Amino acid sequence: MKSRYTAAKNAFVDSVDVEDYIEIESSMAAYAQLEHSLEKPLKMILLFGRPGTGKSILLNRAQQKLKHNKEIHYFDTPAINEKEFFSKLFKVITQKDLPRNTEINFPVLVDYCKSLRGKREMIVLLDEAQMYGPEVMEKIRLLSDSRAIKFVVSLHKTEDEDLIAKEHFQSRIWEVIELKNATPQDQAVYIHKKLLKKNLFEIANSILEKNMKLIHKFSEGNYRECNKLMFTIFEICEYYDENEPNKINYAELPQKIIEMAALKLGYIHV
Ligand SMILES: Nc1ncnc2c1ncn2[C@@H]1O[C@H](COP(=O)(O)OP(=O)(O)OP(=O)(O)O)[C@@H](O)[C@H]1O
Ligand SMILES: [Mg+2]
Repeated sequence: MKSRYTAAKNAFVDSVDVEDYIEIESSMAAYAQLEHSLEKPLKMILLFGRPGTGKSILLNRAQQKLKHNKEIHYFDTPAINEKEFFSKLFKVITQKDLPRNTEINFPVLVDYCKSLRGKREMIVLLDEAQMYGPEVMEKIRLLSDSRAIKFVVSLHKTEDEDLIAKEHFQSRIWEVIELKNATPQDQAVYIHKKLLKKNLFEIANSILEKNMKLIHKFSEGNYRECNKLMFTIFEICEYYDENEPNKINYAELPQKIIEMAALKLGYIHV
């Protein structure tokens, strides 16, 4: 028989599927801010946050929700090279493929965008923008100056490097939206809703407040780390359920299992 924990485990596989979007307060607030910013005559909007705070899923949600009323495009990972990126952008702007063996005449493309001002408005969501170099960012800026394209630039915030401080991200007309690690409350909502979406009510109820506190402590409120931890916790539960069911308490998730998972993931050491 398949363990009930298998489904719980699989609920925490890392993915950026909009169908799995969960309405967490902080994410909803950031989303509302993004929608509001897109209504303003801004050229560039910055979405900023540590890895695993939910930037990609938020951009995907924006695209899904706005695509019926706006011309909106999502660029996931940066193209391998500048040329490929600009031919993709060329296609978005001109609605035509770039003819083979043709170089983009950039000033002409900018002029074309200017001619669209007031007639057509495109939104381009650029994920992982820390990977675009200064020359690309400068061209993006020139295109956005035409006011026919708005860019939402999503940036990784890292410990050692303040990317916004970099010259090519500075001195632009930015509106900054920041995603932060989850509060204990937000994370508890996230974990519960993930399980309830899969109809795993009993398992959701077996995670007590003290369990949530410990999970938050280990994952530091990071959604990606939280997914990893929850996956590992349920993997251990699954093992007991299948092999030593007398050792498992179905009504209450033992703190010890959370610690075992943390150990396995290297959050703590013996
Ligand atoms: N509101 C949410 N609803 C559902 N899942 C979420 C939500 N926020 C974050 N997650 C989940 O957390 C994980 C990390 O989110 P995501 O990949 O969007 O982060 P990111 O900020 O883009 O990270 P990176 O900077 O590394 O690209 C994903 O599995 C995602 O599905
Ligand atoms: Mg991402």
